[in-house]
Amino acid sequence: MCGIVGYLGNKQACDLLIDALKRLEYRGYDSAGIAMWNNGAIETARRKGKVDDLRKAVSSGGFEGTMGLAHTRWATHGIPSERNAHPHTAGDITVVHNGIIENYIEIKERLRKDGHEFLSDTDTEVIPHLVTRYVEEGRSFVDAARAALKELKGSYAVGIIRKKERTLVAAKKESPLIVGVGDDEYFIASDAPAILDRTNRFIFLEDNDVVIFTEGSLVITDMEGNPVKRVVSTVAWTGAMAEKGGYKHFMLKEIFEQPRAIADTLIGRVMEEEGQVEFEDLSPPDLTKVRKIWMVACGTSYHACMIGKHMIEANLRIPVEADIASEFRYRNPILNKEDMLVLVSQSGETADTIAAMKEGKKRGVYTLGVCNVVGSTLARECDGVVFTHAGPEIGVASTKAFTTQISVLYMLMLYMGGKLHKMDRDRIKENIREMRKMPHKVQAILNISKSIEEIAGNFHKTKDFLYLGRGINYPAVQEGALKLKEISYIHAEAYAAGEMKHGPIALIDENLPVVVVSPNDSTYQKTCANIEEVLARRGKVLLFTDHESHEMASRVESVFTLPSTTYELQPLLSVIPLQLLAYYIANLLGTDVDQPRNLAKSVTVE
Ligand code: AGP
Repeated sequence: MCGIVGYLGNKQACDLLIDALKRLEYRGYDSAGIAMWNNGAIETARRKGKVDDLRKAVSSGGFEGTMGLAHTRWATHGIPSERNAHPHTAGDITVVHNGIIENYIEIKERLRKDGHEFLSDTDTEVIPHLVTRYVEEGRSFVDAARAALKELKGSYAVGIIRKKERTLVAAKKESPLIVGVGDDEYFIASDAPAILDRTNRFIFLEDNDVVIFTEGSLVITDMEGNPVKRVVSTVAWTGAMAEKGGYKHFMLKEIFEQPRAIADTLIGRVMEEEGQVEFEDLSPPDLTKVRKIWMVACGTSYHACMIGKHMIEANLRIPVEADIASEFRYRNPILNKEDMLVLVSQSGETADTIAAMKEGKKRGVYTLGVCNVVGSTLARECDGVVFTHAGPEIGVASTKAFTTQISVLYMLMLYMGGKLHKMDRDRIKENIREMRKMPHKVQAILNISKSIEEIAGNFHKTKDFLYLGRGINYPAVQEGALKLKEISYIHAEAYAAGEMKHGPIALIDENLPVVVVSPNDSTYQKTCANIEEVLARRGKVLLFTDHESHEMASRVESVFTLPSTTYELQPLLSVIPLQLLAYYIANLLGTDVDQPRNLAKSVTVE
């Protein structure tokens, strides 16, 4: 998705803004641009393609100044091209924008009649035209900006500057934007990693906030111009956390960070001696009244929800519905006031997940966010929030966010089990004990990552993959298949193993690798029967199991031995080699692992 950065301070801003844009690259984009203000002049450069192309474009000079805006665009209206790239200018007003202006056609037509000429196909371009129009009517720049923003329907995060004055106006509505506070300098950014090397002090803006930056000061108002107060928060993330640290890709680094991320997510929450789980600051309403839980999310986070459903239903016997956020609100879900709605999101900014949260709130349901980004919309607006402590996740393909989400949902199961007296202390203790072993067990898998790299070497030229798993490992193989698709562009489909004979079996021949996750649990023998069906059709099985006897070892293509654990925690382990398999295959294919084509890290539009 688009990324915004802006600066007003005492340093030369051009390189600083482009460096910040580089750190937003992971969000996904197709073009980039910059506007530098310099004593009554604005110099703009835009390029289709990479931020490095933009850097080259500005290197010839002319981009001096200590105030500026920069942008990476992910096309929604109009193809990726230089003319559609931001910033957009009309008169002496220049704008960068994230989001979608829903009424742009109507505004454009109206302005056209008044003689305004448009140079791009974007919805964004109406913003500088509207501001210019209000300035020409005699309003101050800031008033004109507010008046223009009030006319917009849809979502936006914007940065606006004007040739004639050293003022930067920023605003947000349903699209993320934060303010970074330095020493006599201010930043705006779509998210924290862009500017973490400059400051860790942030103001998390709320919808309809308008920020006016001038020399050494910032004022925040509502849309009517009334001052509003927002606190400056210090976050624990550092710039180094958002660096590759010697790994070839962020994704690989993040896969290897999982033991630490899981351990950090547990710290201070699981009390083994007491057989108790507590979440800081969480005070849900009377849990005894909860009749049904909804877990709603997108993509990888949705897979975590499916795992959460298995855990809670198996142990607490409370019905859980796992739902895809983009479907949830459109099917008029039967929500009751006693239900609990759990929204799971790494970024906390996914538009569909936020819309699901709003639907829940509208219906009076308690909303609980499981989120990785402090200050994100989901974290701010849910009734309660439990943070995953994964640290910044930069790779577009989610890895450590997933395993920390599973960890939180597991703790939620224990927390509710205790509060509802559905699990006694000894059982909770036992579960905590096993959970605390997870960082070591994940590390044990990572220690033998070489063997996965070897498997990848035999299959990276394959066109299709089938993934099979049962029960709680079905979402784990869905996640494995999603990882492979996302970063290697190889087609991969995941099925509940028992479903194979109802259709996908037709695909099996000697060219189809079938990834099977089959721990030694109550369905092991059933999955073995499915493996036999694959082998009988000369399919190639890549088996991931903790079963020691490996009676199939000589007949399958490869066996990867997983550490054993309880049913609930199996996916936390089984997904790790699947992440590695996807990574090593993509790496052999030479794809852009951290920023795969067409993908955005945080999908802030519907
Ligand atoms: C994961 O690899 C994906 N890139 C994607 O499916 C992601 O999980 C989804 O967009 C949800 O994002 P969120 O967790 O930030 O809400």
